[in-house]
Amino acid sequence: MKITVVKSYDELSEVASNILLDEIKKKPDTQVCLATGSSPTGMYAKFVEQVHNQEINVDDVLWTKLDEWIGIDLENKSSCEYYIKEHILDPLQIKESSYLAFNTNAEDMNQELTRIQKALKIRPLDVCILGIGVNGHLGLNEPAMSLEAFSHIVELDEKSKSHPMLASQNVSGGITLGLSEIMHAKKIIFLVSGISKKEMFHKFMEKEISTMNPSSLLWLHPNVELIVEEDIYN
Ligand code: GLP
Repeated sequence: MKITVVKSYDELSEVASNILLDEIKKKPDTQVCLATGSSPTGMYAKFVEQVHNQEINVDDVLWTKLDEWIGIDLENKSSCEYYIKEHILDPLQIKESSYLAFNTNAEDMNQELTRIQKALKIRPLDVCILGIGVNGHLGLNEPAMSLEAFSHIVELDEKSKSHPMLASQNVSGGITLGLSEIMHAKKIIFLVSGISKKEMFHKFMEKEISTMNPSSLLWLHPNVELIVEEDIYN
C-alpha cells in the first residue's frame, strides 16, 4: 500500500485527481468506479478542472457507480446518482452508454444485480475510488460476520443511515458492489478525510483483517494508493 500523508483536503483532492488522470492518460478506456460522499468531492472538482484545462479526452472512459441508497428517488439530491451526475457526468458531458449504475427504480432488483455483476465480470474495474465509512464500510459493504463477494442489496447499519449526504431522510437499505468486484480493480484510490474517520483509520492501520471492518480487506490488495490527511494520520 502506498501511503501519502497530505496537509489539507485540497492537497488530498489534487493528489487523487492526478493519479486518476495518469491512469486515464495511460489507458483512455479506463473503467472507473466512483464513490460518493464528502471524501471525493474535491477530487472530482479538481479532476473536472484539469480535464477541461488540459483538454483531455475522456470520451472512452467508463464510469461505474459504487453504491446507492434504496428508498429515495434517483432524482433526489441525496442520491448517489444525483451526486455523480452533478460532480462528474454533467460537467464532463458523459454519454449514458458510458455509465454503468444500479437503477433502484427497476422493477426487478435481482435482474438489476445480475446486470451489474455480468458487466463487471466481462469488464472488471481498472480504478476504484473509495472513501471509508465511520464504521469502516467500503461502498455499502457494512461490518458483518461475513461479506458478500458480488453486487448485492444490504441492510444498513445505523451509522450509515445517518450519513450526512442523506440530510436526515429515511432510507430503507442500500445496494453496492461486492468486495470481490472492488478487490478486482487494478488500482484503488483510497481517500481518508475528515476528523470523524480518525478512530476507524487508526483501527485500519492496525492491519488486522476482519469482516467487521471491511476497509481492512484493502490490506490484501496489491495496488492501493491511500491518501490521508495528516490530522487523521497522526
Ligand atoms: C457512503 C457512500 C460511499 C462513501 C462513504 C463515505 O456510504 N455511499 O460511497 O464512500 O459513505 O462517505 P464520506 O466520504 O462522505 O464519509
